[in-house]
Amino acid sequence: MSDFWSWYIITIVVINIVGCWGLLYFTRNLEGEQADDGTTGHEYDGIKEYNNPLPRWWLYMFYITIVYSIGYLVVYPGLGNYKGTFGWTSAGQHAEEVAAAKKEFGPIFAKYAKLDVEELVKDKKAVTMGQRIFANTCFACHGSDARGAAGYPNLTDNDWLYDATPDGIKLSITNGRNGMMPPQGAILGDDLKNVVGYVMALSGRDAGTADVDAGKAKYEQVCFVCHQSDGTGNPMLGAPNLTDMVWLYGGSAGQIEKSIKDGRTGVMPAHKDILTAEQIHLVTGYIYSLSAE
Ligand code: HEC
Ligand code: HEC
Repeated sequence: MSDFWSWYIITIVVINIVGCWGLLYFTRNLEGEQADDGTTGHEYDGIKEYNNPLPRWWLYMFYITIVYSIGYLVVYPGLGNYKGTFGWTSAGQHAEEVAAAKKEFGPIFAKYAKLDVEELVKDKKAVTMGQRIFANTCFACHGSDARGAAGYPNLTDNDWLYDATPDGIKLSITNGRNGMMPPQGAILGDDLKNVVGYVMALSGRDAGTADVDAGKAKYEQVCFVCHQSDGTGNPMLGAPNLTDMVWLYGGSAGQIEKSIKDGRTGVMPAHKDILTAEQIHLVTGYIYSLSAE
């Protein structure tokens, strides 16, 4: 921190402390407006207020907090660049805690790292550890119960975009995944509605007024490369199965039309620099356990 900002902070802190003290000192004996009956003279709904000074013990508590804050600023950092006589830093405390956690959990991580994921899920403690990692790292996108949300896959069902083996799940977490559905609106033109109708029909629903045969013909020209000709999808590309009722972005005609017209690009970030290999192993176990039961 530059000298300017250091002094800036010191000045604000000192002005605050002196200001608090001044406020207490100068108001300690102030008499406000006083009516003849010893009240402030204000009345609201028949309630009056006595005009008594603050009790002494109450006032002294404020003075004690000021003395405490000065003592605190001597031993801990608080005045700009001054480090305090204890030499405490938040980074130092963090480093100490990380070192302590490594010492405590290192051997446990190492033990679990040797087990296959299929073995790992039989160990309740390992699954709980994986769940904690999930709760810290993944819940913002996949939900605290791992059931996901629109655009974020549900990880508890047996429906997978990508490879569902333990190695495949681990790969999803380690390197991340990019779902790439390019916008098809321009290519389909007037046939967009018909293709939407065909996709509705693939999951056994009413296609409305759409010309399903025309939609099928377009599908077989454009979509089959990724979603397969029978619509069951392709885990290599993360192209979803369109024949079931599990939808990543929603299964209404409007949502399907939006997916097709504008495309979709879901991104699962790589976690290899966020978690250690041992942590990824444990969280893979947790994810695997959710649908393995
Ligand atoms: C920033 C949001 C985000 C975070 C954080 C995140 N994910 Fe994901 N994850 C996604 C999205 C989006 C997808 C779907 C990618 C796609 O559409 O192709 C996904 C896909 C996956 C898949 C593949 C699912 C399938 O059906 O094949 C797995 C497994 C997964 N995530 C696990 C995790 C785990 C475990 C964590 C925490 C370590 C995590 N994710 C953190 C957004 C996230
Ligand atoms: C280049 C490969 C590719 C092509 C071509 C493609 N898709 Fe997709 N599609 C994908 C991928 C990958 C996703 C998932 C995107 C994501 O994970 O964000 C997807 C998502 C979808 C979804 C959303 C599914 C859901 O569960 O919400 C629909 C609907 C869809 N595609 C229909 C079509 C139709 C119809 C066509 C042809 C007009 C088509 N796609 C062409 C790859 C493709």
